[in-house]
Amino acid sequence: MSDQQTDAYSGTIFSGSADVLTRRPQEAYAKMRAAGPAIRMEGSGVVVTTREAMTEVFRNPDIYSSQLPTGHFGNTRPLIPIEIDPPDQKKFRMILDPLFSPKNLEHLAEPIERLVNELIDGFIDEPEIDFAQQFSVPFPSRVFLTMFGLPVEDLPQFLRMKDGIIRPFHVLGTSLNDPRVQELRETTAASIYDYFNGVLDQREAERKDDLLSKFLDAEVNGERLTRNEILDICFLMLIAGLDTVSASLDCFFRYLAEHPDARAALVADPALSPQVVEELLRWESPVMLVSRIATEETELAGCPIHVGDAVHPFIGSANTDESEFPDGDAIVWGRKANRHLAFGAGVHRCLGSNLARLELRIALRVWHARIPNYRIKPATELEYTVGVRSVDSFPMVLGESL
Ligand code: HEM
Repeated sequence: MSDQQTDAYSGTIFSGSADVLTRRPQEAYAKMRAAGPAIRMEGSGVVVTTREAMTEVFRNPDIYSSQLPTGHFGNTRPLIPIEIDPPDQKKFRMILDPLFSPKNLEHLAEPIERLVNELIDGFIDEPEIDFAQQFSVPFPSRVFLTMFGLPVEDLPQFLRMKDGIIRPFHVLGTSLNDPRVQELRETTAASIYDYFNGVLDQREAERKDDLLSKFLDAEVNGERLTRNEILDICFLMLIAGLDTVSASLDCFFRYLAEHPDARAALVADPALSPQVVEELLRWESPVMLVSRIATEETELAGCPIHVGDAVHPFIGSANTDESEFPDGDAIVWGRKANRHLAFGAGVHRCLGSNLARLELRIALRVWHARIPNYRIKPATELEYTVGVRSVDSFPMVLGESL
């Protein structure tokens, strides 16, 4: 998904009311579904709004390809595995899936809990914090550094690399159309390749007990990953695994700050955290949409699809679709069936979902044991980005409740 595409949508679909999409997306999704299951938006491709139509897209990666034009993020090769179609994509998933299985992530629970505590120690005595800058942004990056066996001193460099790719317009204080945006992406991308090349040289010389060493030794059918393939995987993880978790935390903590009863239930019973994570992933859908390119002439829920069309499943809309969730507007901890699509579906379903769940569950549990009361600073309107719903700044008052 590209932010250019999503910016185009917010402008086109909601002409003049993009803030509805960012501030009250569930309301916007209901309007989209009312307009049809697959809607052609002039100049923006086809927006897919219902669970059923989306399932058709996800089940047919041969017709709805993930091979988007290379280079949007300044990358010089396709990102692995998200911009690769099967069958090649499957080879990469066979190598990567076991490394991200719940069993293989178990050992991270303790360091992640320590990390949450450390971050909280840093601000617990302050009456007011910026939740984004002091918690939701550094947290997943610090987890990433731990998994990759990288020094914590690299955190600022890491955040610069991530932001230079994901939000170069914010770094530059300019708009998406400024040509300097793509220049910054390209120089940042070069620095990412350099950075990981340097660390991989070190791991070639001496293995460590970390993910990069595992990438070097992993094999499928006797074949190892090449250096470029490992770089293309690392590049993707930097942009897929950090902002998504930050955005989820921003969405969750905003909801919990504004709903003291829901928060009180979680404080009273920390074992609820897995259910809270699932239900808020469904309701908030921190990743609003994904994108595909049509490879043949076809039809989707009555909408003609042409070769080369951009097709955008709005997974946030599927997550509130009445056909799957008749009471979708109600927040219910412990729904009997919660088949949400927050991590996508089909062959490209999120590789990091187990890691994300681990991080989010631990963050909710530890935070609420130490900080049961908090609220958004009065008179603050959180400004979400479109696409991945994160905020730059989240002023929060600790120790007070709504
Ligand atoms: C709550 C946090 C997260 C959310 C909501 C999320 C969401 C998604 C979604 C919707 C997709 C599907 C993209 C598509 O179909 O085009 C995806 C793919 C992916 N995600 Fe996540 N993600 C999260 C966290 C992570 C983390 C922590 C990692 C780190 C490993 C990660 C790595 C990936 C990768 C590598 C893919 C591509 C998989 C493939 O193409 O086979 N994600 N994610």
